[in-house]
Amino acid sequence: MVCLGNICRSPLAEGILANKCKELDVFVDSAGTSSYHIGQAPDPRSQCIAKKYGIDISNQKARHFQYSDFESFDIIYVMDSSNHNNVIALAKTETDREKVKLILNEIKPEMNSPVLDPYFGGDQGFETAYQLLDQACEIIKTNIENEL
Ligand code: 4NP
Repeated sequence: MVCLGNICRSPLAEGILANKCKELDVFVDSAGTSSYHIGQAPDPRSQCIAKKYGIDISNQKARHFQYSDFESFDIIYVMDSSNHNNVIALAKTETDREKVKLILNEIKPEMNSPVLDPYFGGDQGFETAYQLLDQACEIIKTNIENEL
């Protein structure tokens, strides 16, 4: 799960998918395309919305997306087209590029809708991000179950 800062959207996405896949043999992680917040816990507003739905993301620490993530992960979900461009810029092979997907395309295929960045806005943005990510992660979980 990749966003810009790895403190708002992708930690939520990581927490939601990891929570849904507790019984599955799946490793979920998140990272940011920027180095702004490396080492920081998720934004308190992300922690709060996750907690509202019974998910604890307080132990996560922001890290920078790196090339080795292409080798470590089967799928790299990004939140918006800017994240997409930043991650694709680091790809070396067609196999790397094929791993990168806009997460909301799981709900609305090929629409390329973003999970809007809630960082500079109010609490409603975090609720909206949560609901969209929850819908997408439910589909991702089903996809994983069908492949295992
Ligand atoms: P995120 O949100 O990419 O969802 O973690 C942001 C967090 C921090 C900043 C921008 C977006 N920032 O500019 O510091």
